[in-house]
Amino acid sequence: MGRPYVFITRKLPDDIIAPIKDIAEVAMWPHDDIPVSRDVLINEAKKADALLTMVSDVIDQEVLKAGKSLKVVANMGVGFDNIDVPAATKYGIAVCNTPDVLTDTTADLTFALLLAAARRIVEAAQFIKEGKWKSWSPFLLAGVDVHHKTIGIVGMGKIGQAVAKRAAGFDMNILYHNRSRNIEAEKQLGATYCSFQELLATADFVVCLTPLTNETRHMFNREAFRKMKQSAIFINASRGAVVDEQALYDALVSGEIAGAGLDVFEHEPIDASHPLLTLKNVVALPHIGSATGETRTKMMELASRNIIAVLQGKQPETLVNK
Ligand code: DGY
Repeated sequence: MGRPYVFITRKLPDDIIAPIKDIAEVAMWPHDDIPVSRDVLINEAKKADALLTMVSDVIDQEVLKAGKSLKVVANMGVGFDNIDVPAATKYGIAVCNTPDVLTDTTADLTFALLLAAARRIVEAAQFIKEGKWKSWSPFLLAGVDVHHKTIGIVGMGKIGQAVAKRAAGFDMNILYHNRSRNIEAEKQLGATYCSFQELLATADFVVCLTPLTNETRHMFNREAFRKMKQSAIFINASRGAVVDEQALYDALVSGEIAGAGLDVFEHEPIDASHPLLTLKNVVALPHIGSATGETRTKMMELASRNIIAVLQGKQPETLVNK
């Protein structure tokens, strides 16, 4: 039997994939800023024993079925809504993700987004660079306070808990909603569990960190935005499709809520002409929650270790379909 064949859907640094090359033939899509084309992905899946994929790759039934000798799909991300996990399980293919290594980095970015939206940081930075600053003035670019306000975290997993830890440092009152109670966050950070409706009605900052599932798709809909305070700022650092973007746009335009900080969008990359990007009260980022050199390197290394483990018949570190 020959060496196993691994296909990597983006150009990753050679030193990081060297350990895979020690045990397998490796082919890689040659670009780091252009996603793999669908036909190349399917053709490669047909030959591959392992795929190292990005959260932007659609790994659906067609790809998985094509992978006759496919044993593992190692996704570079904690989220895996881009992969049809039930289909992978049906075909006996392991699906792995990269939790833990990105928790603090993503929490930092989420909190940065919250601060940026509250204190109008992007607007202010643009203002000064455009030469608009004529004088110090009492309400020039005045935002809203973050400290001592109420944060409502929807999705109190590891990243949610790390955001709560940052919020505690800002003396915030911490509410959360989750499928199950997070006793550690309650005990250590004084977080209070409440219903989704109660959180929406009470929080000054509503922070979405819930994974995208059939249950959470469009959970932030018209009704949800209507329940929020008019002064509320909505932050999304999980997945765009958890939000009905038209409803969010309407809520921002009509003043039902005050602002938003968005790192994720239903269709990525979002078109520059998208209505949400025309609003002054929206801070928008291109899905960079986990984007630091250190963390992205750790994510690549973990994905590589997962592939090596499966190809060597061992248990991968972070298997999704147990
Ligand atoms: C994840 O890990 O799921 C992120 O969204 C990718 O950075």
